[in-house]
Amino acid sequence: MKVIQWFPGHMAKTRRAIKSNLSLVDAVVEIIDARTPMSSRNPEIDSLTSGKPRIVLLNKCDLADANATSAWVNYFSRENVTALAVDCKSGKGLNKLLPTMKATVLKELMEKRSKNGMTGAAVRLMILGIPNVGKSSLINRLAGSKRAKVEDRPGVTRTKQWVKLKDNTEMLDMPGVLWPKFEDQSAAIRLAFTGAISDDILDIETLAMKLLAYLAENYPEPLKERYKIDIDEADDGLALLEKVGRKRGMMISGGEINTERAAITVLDEFRSGKLGRITLELPPVKE
Ligand code: G4P
Repeated sequence: MKVIQWFPGHMAKTRRAIKSNLSLVDAVVEIIDARTPMSSRNPEIDSLTSGKPRIVLLNKCDLADANATSAWVNYFSRENVTALAVDCKSGKGLNKLLPTMKATVLKELMEKRSKNGMTGAAVRLMILGIPNVGKSSLINRLAGSKRAKVEDRPGVTRTKQWVKLKDNTEMLDMPGVLWPKFEDQSAAIRLAFTGAISDDILDIETLAMKLLAYLAENYPEPLKERYKIDIDEADDGLALLEKVGRKRGMMISGGEINTERAAITVLDEFRSGKLGRITLELPPVKE
């Protein structure tokens, strides 16, 4: 993973680029990670896109807890935000994207165009999201061909290319790469769990210990099953990491457990879905 260093100058440039490109499109597709729907949102997304119809895609839903994803879709609906769960790797759910947009966030535009005899005009979309959330995968899926990897750099590139999609829709080839919530420590840790941001915000063992503590509390069964371990109430993250290392035979000389290797294993296996479908944060409870 290439990591972007975000500086105030980059952020200002991104804001400017998005603003100027926003006037070219009819709607915004905001991609977030279904495992971290709050943490993977850009903190300024509302003001950045204000006035534009927007749909939220909860991507990587194949890796997220299905019940939690439904709860998130309901949460967004309560907030009057149209949200759709998708998996841009396999393409699952994407056939609903355009019909849903046309029936909801683009309804008014569609009606206006139909009244004015403008139904032939293309609908233009811009894709926005933090790095690694699946923007390139979405473009490749929708465009139906393998396109270049989105450049990991802030903002939207200068050369604007429109990719034609079905149903007379076009989108900007280069999506807007937004900065993540790195100032909110707990959001940054969740993003590091999923690999959305560099995992060097904490040392790898501390990161894995925190993930194991979360899993022991919220998803104990998959954890026990994957590593064939028991979880005692008194087990903290370190105790769990040592159990994983011991079970996997990760030892260093002197009978000590190689907790660094165990940490890498736990993080890799979580990220690739081997630990099962896991969501890292739930929507706020309804009042
Ligand atoms: P970006 O443009 O927003 O930076 O993200 P990109 O599409 O490059 O996706 C980042 C990683 O997430 C890629 O994995 C991609 O395959 C994976 N990904 C995207 N959408 C989904 C999804 O819905 N489900 C799952 N499981 N994975 C998804 P990678 O390891 O970097 O590359 P590769 O595995 O494709 O080789």
